[in-house]
Amino acid sequence: MLQMLYICELMSNLCVHIKSFGCQMNKLDTALVSSALQDEGFILTESVKEADVVLINTCSVREHAEQRVLSHLGHLKHIKESRPELVVGVIGCMAQRLGETLLEHEAVNFVCGPAEIPQIKQLIRKALKEKKKSLAVTEKIRQKAPEEQNQALEEFESAYGIEDESIPAQAFVRVMRGCNNFCSYCVVPYVRGPEISRLPEAIIEQIKKLADHGVKQITLLGQTVNSYKYKQGEKTWSLADLLDAAGDIEGVEWLRFVTSYPSEEFFDEIMQVMARSPKVCKYLHMPAQSGSDRILHAMNRNYSAARYLELLDRARAIVPDIAIAGDFIVGFPGETEEDFQATVDLVKKARYKNAFIFKYSPRPGTTADKRQEDTVPAEVKQKRIMQLLAVQEQISKELSRAFLGKEVTVLIEGLSKKPHLNSTDSEKNPQLVARTETDYIVVFNGPTLLAGKFAQVKITRTSPLTLFGELA
Ligand code: 5AD
Ligand code: SF4
Repeated sequence: MLQMLYICELMSNLCVHIKSFGCQMNKLDTALVSSALQDEGFILTESVKEADVVLINTCSVREHAEQRVLSHLGHLKHIKESRPELVVGVIGCMAQRLGETLLEHEAVNFVCGPAEIPQIKQLIRKALKEKKKSLAVTEKIRQKAPEEQNQALEEFESAYGIEDESIPAQAFVRVMRGCNNFCSYCVVPYVRGPEISRLPEAIIEQIKKLADHGVKQITLLGQTVNSYKYKQGEKTWSLADLLDAAGDIEGVEWLRFVTSYPSEEFFDEIMQVMARSPKVCKYLHMPAQSGSDRILHAMNRNYSAARYLELLDRARAIVPDIAIAGDFIVGFPGETEEDFQATVDLVKKARYKNAFIFKYSPRPGTTADKRQEDTVPAEVKQKRIMQLLAVQEQISKELSRAFLGKEVTVLIEGLSKKPHLNSTDSEKNPQLVARTETDYIVVFNGPTLLAGKFAQVKITRTSPLTLFGELA
């Protein structure tokens, strides 16, 4: 996913351009950085050409994401040949993973890891003033962060937790940082550090502030969001408690949370809040990664395929109309045809609304990479991904077809970026994109001023991943 933000400082005519790769956690960091800079007097602009500073917020989860960043840096190096004064800063997961190596890149002026982000303004100022390169990464990322660092991150987060302007009336709120799961293929624990749950009051305050700014949908974020846990005297706050408390805030209409780890702890409580609170969206994103117990074990995932499916049954028993999404990795080292068939089997049983499927990508420093060769050939990974996508597509098609003729409530995001077949009927009614509470994408024609508002849409046509309709 690619997101671009452009910021321009009015006073001195200095412009900053932010390009963001990766997950929702990164999108949130981009939004925080952009609002921190706006607070300093910077404003949005849309031109790389005008930029005095370019920030790249990077992702390390797969090699492909890193390659895209490197190719972008190559492009910036080219621009710097004619504009050597251009400042380039690399932030995010790749900054933390590659640190010094990235700093050596000709295009790069500074490198700043996710836990050092509160220093961003100083790093930019310094780079604008001096030629010297600077490195701000966390030296011992797996050690518990010193109190001052947590405090700085907290302040940065709370001070700049304003609305993400890319989608009106919607915002992300981080409830926890880092991850302690060490799934053997995953780089996240090594770049985002140990798991830490944020103070519930800070989260609730932030949501109140966002609601006061007109935000209607809040998405709570964590690598394993359902393991949110905060001990306060006798009480231990869980994600279920947070959802309850956030649901009481006036102005908040829809609450979402991603991503869930398939674990027993708090599972039923969270599903019960979803069942009873009209504000908690009936949507669960819970990656399975594989359907083979042997591979799940090698991935250091602490469940079997049967336990995972049992959790889905429980979710559906408590919230009958819940929509579920999953993630899968195909071609993990040692994955046989039989292992892969077990994944196909799980996907058929799970009946996901949609599944995000990835080819295994070895990540330096992870245990899978250290201990196991990337044995599954590229063409086999390709064949498996296509096969699994086809199985899921059939399921998605069946599930979305059930919406035909029905009326759904949607929150409108804005103009559709890739107009679909029933395109614009007039200048006044361009094609808009929206989502249901179950996270179905809905496309219909309507006035742009509906962005950020709720509407009723009658579904007239469906495709596996998109519902098409008319304003009711
Ligand atoms: N290779 C391929 N996919 C990966 N993911 C995480 N690490 C890797 C990797 N090394 C996938 C998982 C995760 C999603 C965010 O990315 O499916 O849920
Ligand atoms: Fe990575 Fe596993 Fe943590 Fe998710 S739970 S971020 S896949 S280590």
